[in-house]
Amino acid sequence: MTRLSPAGRKALLTLHVVTSVGWLGADLVLLTLGVAGLRGADPEVVYPAAALLVTWLFAPLSVVVWLVGLASALLTPWGLLRWRWVLVKFAVTTVVLTLVLLLLTPRVRHLGELAGAADTHLRVDLVVAPTVSSTLLLVVTVLSTYKPWGRLRPARPAARRPAAAGRRG
Ligand code: HEM
Repeated sequence: MTRLSPAGRKALLTLHVVTSVGWLGADLVLLTLGVAGLRGADPEVVYPAAALLVTWLFAPLSVVVWLVGLASALLTPWGLLRWRWVLVKFAVTTVVLTLVLLLLTPRVRHLGELAGAADTHLRVDLVVAPTVSSTLLLVVTVLSTYKPWGRLRPARPAARRPAAAGRRG
């Protein structure tokens, strides 16, 4: 598998952190709008805003995060199938991406169209879904920094834990 130069790896890691933590931030904004909607904020403002956020930022960013995350594994010495924390991150991100594209996006867009006419069930969805996804993304962020659970397969004798970004890995 192609490996990046130290400068290339730093650039990719920067892109990965900015996009993925930005994704978590966008999710929290969605949650804020959902809570505001339930607490009596104007539904004609809050729900169309949530629909815009999902359509133009949250859903496209989900795909970007998945792709850049995958590249961060495949193009660095971490690999995708070597370390448990990487594989678990990949699995959780894939589940969240699927739920965002297949469930959350169509429902929030529908909510944006209905706005003031939306029923309570749909309004509650905009609190529950971002609560679940933000929690999962927070767990993924913690996994990224603590890198727990070791390797999936025993290391070859010369193999060590991959070096930090920017150093030779
Ligand atoms: C497809 C899913 C993902 C994969 C395969 C993945 C994989 C990786 C890998 C291999 C690294 C180390 C890169 C390096 O050292 O050059 C990394 C770092 C990192 N990832 Fe992910 N990632 C994914 C999704 C996410 C998500 C969703 C978040 C946060 C919401 C996230 C947050 C981070 C952070 C903060 C770091 C930097 C950790 C550090 O420098 O110690 N990642 N990721």
